Amino acid sequence: MKITGISGSPRPESSTNALIKAVLDSTDGESQIFNINELDIKPCQSCYYCKENGVCKYQDDYTDIVKALDESDVFVIGSPIYFSEVTAQLKTFIDRLYSVVNNQGISTKLVLIYVQANPDGSLYKPYIEAQSNMLSNIGFELVDTINAYGIPEYENLIENKEFLEKAKEIGSKL
Ligand SMILES: Cc1cc2nc3c(=O)[nH]c(=O)nc-3n(C[C@H](O)[C@H](O)[C@H](O)COP(=O)(O)O)c2cc1C
Repeated sequence: MKITGISGSPRPESSTNALIKAVLDSTDGESQIFNINELDIKPCQSCYYCKENGVCKYQDDYTDIVKALDESDVFVIGSPIYFSEVTAQLKTFIDRLYSVVNNQGISTKLVLIYVQANPDGSLYKPYIEAQSNMLSNIGFELVDTINAYGIPEYENLIENKEFLEKAKEIGSKL
């Protein structure tokens, strides 16, 4: 089994990264993580070149992610919540999926991870549900979701334990 993590956090010590890694490390598959913040990925330019030519016009670091989508059984996609949404880094990753959706398509299993400082775990449920539906509609097969709330800092994730345990459980069942 091949499993790929995608992180939208820019932090070096990130709860999102730790949760993605906990899922990946609990599988017996071969894994890799792409940290969007560290990559050279241009935002979608809405040029529709991909519709006519089968590939995105911009052959930047996203090319490696397209290859990973083709080869992976599972994607684990995570982001902190910034102003009620995923980070700009993760949104850039999502928008660039347009060329994949228009060409080879997506059929990969998906685990979604959201991390928020706010202690109210129901606050972003409508947003998370809408995004889950959209990702399912473009071909991902949603397996599970972690909505880690009340986690402003990495230390809170370590103290809390609940979300890391859930990540390990999800990974062990993949
Ligand atoms: C620009 C910015 C906006 C944020 N907006 C929200 C928000 O709307 N709701 C919330 O609960 N937390 C918000 N946070 C807090 C982060 O979601 C939180 O610190 C999270 O743990 C960061 O995850 P990471 O360690 O993986 O980067 C925001 C943080 C930043 C820097």
